[in-house]
Amino acid sequence: MKPAILFVCLGNICRSPLAEAALRARVSAMGQDWKINSAGTADWHRGKAPDRRAQATALRHGIDISAYRARQVQVSDFTRFTHIFALDQQNLRDLRALRPVGAGAHLALLLDMVPDMAGEAVADPYYGDDAGFEITWSEVDRAAAAIVAQLARFPT
Ligand code: 4NP
Repeated sequence: MKPAILFVCLGNICRSPLAEAALRARVSAMGQDWKINSAGTADWHRGKAPDRRAQATALRHGIDISAYRARQVQVSDFTRFTHIFALDQQNLRDLRALRPVGAGAHLALLLDMVPDMAGEAVADPYYGDDAGFEITWSEVDRAAAAIVAQLARFPT
């Protein structure tokens, strides 16, 4: 089955849109078309574009995320996606509480995909400076590379 990947953070304006952008870029570079999206556990920023610092960070890496719009994660996401990745442990706890019994999606902490970062959170750059967003980018891009390596079916 074709992967369908959802990234979830708190507000869906900083970390998870960057994870979405990083994976979209890597999947399209492979010539593949997966369902890729992001959401927040909170609904505070519903309908808003990503934080301008996240937009600037993505643009520095050649990706325009100005058209992304924040949304809150929904129970139906657990059947619409094959994999749901939480950006930090609190997001993971909130998703576990929301997950319906018998839901299909595989639910995990995002950095568990990166062997030397297993168990770590993608730090929330919201209250920091621009440099924090660049660290966020490097972490979510490493995770995106790991997701592609694990889930893509390369012709041999
Ligand atoms: P995100 O960052 O979860 O990576 O989108 C945050 C965005 C907004 C807030 C906190 C974190 N906030 O408190 O509004």
